[in-house]
Amino acid sequence: MKKQFLNLGKQPIANRFIYKDQIENEFLFDLKVAFDEETKLVTQVEYVDPPLMFNEDYTYRGSMSNTMQKHFKELSNSLNTNPNLKILEIGSNDGVFIKNWPTDQAIAVEPCGNFAKETQDLGYITYPEFWTTSLSNKIQKNHGKQNIIFAANCICHIPDLDETFKAVESLLTEDGVFIFEDPSLAEVINNTSYDQIYDEHPHVFSVIALDNILKRNGLQIVKVDNLSVHGGSNRIYAQKLGTKVDSSVEKNKSYERVLGLDKFETFKRFAEKVEQSKRDLIRILNQCKKENKKVISYGATSKSTTIFNYCGVTPELIDYITDTTPEKQGKLSPGTHIPIITPEEGFDESVDYAYLGAWNFIKEISEKESKYLDRGGKFITHVPTVKIV
Ligand code: TYD
Repeated sequence: MKKQFLNLGKQPIANRFIYKDQIENEFLFDLKVAFDEETKLVTQVEYVDPPLMFNEDYTYRGSMSNTMQKHFKELSNSLNTNPNLKILEIGSNDGVFIKNWPTDQAIAVEPCGNFAKETQDLGYITYPEFWTTSLSNKIQKNHGKQNIIFAANCICHIPDLDETFKAVESLLTEDGVFIFEDPSLAEVINNTSYDQIYDEHPHVFSVIALDNILKRNGLQIVKVDNLSVHGGSNRIYAQKLGTKVDSSVEKNKSYERVLGLDKFETFKRFAEKVEQSKRDLIRILNQCKKENKKVISYGATSKSTTIFNYCGVTPELIDYITDTTPEKQGKLSPGTHIPIITPEEGFDESVDYAYLGAWNFIKEISEKESKYLDRGGKFITHVPTVKIV
């Protein structure tokens, strides 16, 4: 049974950056978050229909940071031992992971037509479809069972986890491995990073919940890697039931039990911290405006869609957002309609404070913007607590 603990209010499609004439028809939904007592899954009360989010107009490009390019290259190098292994990626986006693999070894699945075309153009067989049992059956018929099925920041996008895992299980070879990485619930709780919750993230995964749901679908977690990307993620290795389990699985589960991720009360306390975070952010932004400081936002992220809409951050508090993604530039932020411009146009001498929408890249950004920091420019973040850095 789902028990609601958090209401993040009316929210738009987090990655749907819009033009002025689209404001009137902007889609909004109630973003409410719950805890499922049976599986221990943190999940939304109601899910947004996936085609509203993942379509021809999808704007998120995985390859927009050096950090993520390096991350997927390193992972591919660590896996890439046998050229006969067949690999399938679910949610291949702009090819940031798959491009590290030979075109005759890897298959892509990507429902966003614009990105499916990009991996096709790179030479990969690409299925421009959502991950379903019928797609899994079709791939098995056309290409046989797969040794590795990989997904990054994708499985937590899919409402129906039971069907997703069943479709993976039936396509894996007997000793095949399903490797997927998504933001970690433990990190979200530790950092009050409630901005990991938006339409595209109907679930935020604990290892405990994932193992419960995988097990009822013929798979189990055999290893967990804790990663620093996306503000703290877990890479899950799952195999068919009966496979040997690494000690990292119990280590992660017992840490999660210490944090109380298997208890509803933990999430009630988290909701109180979220409200405090909102009050603190608005207080700092109001103070900056009162002092006539110029405040912008760095990185037009999905995460900041949640923050801005929940906290009521409008163009009165933030002048504009800079972002390197061509598909976002010249548009307005979802729901709050703050203009997005290129860093070349907007990240200049006049900026006093930059709210870090992309706080998860703080290291890469601080290195890149050392001149801004040297001349006294400051960043504002809400992670793990609201502060000026
Ligand atoms: P990410 O944090 O992965 O976003 P999401 O919350 O949508 O998952 O995205 C980072 C965004 O920030 C992306 O649109 C690119 C942008 N960006 C910059 O503009 N400059 C930078 O230096 C970096 C690292 C990212």
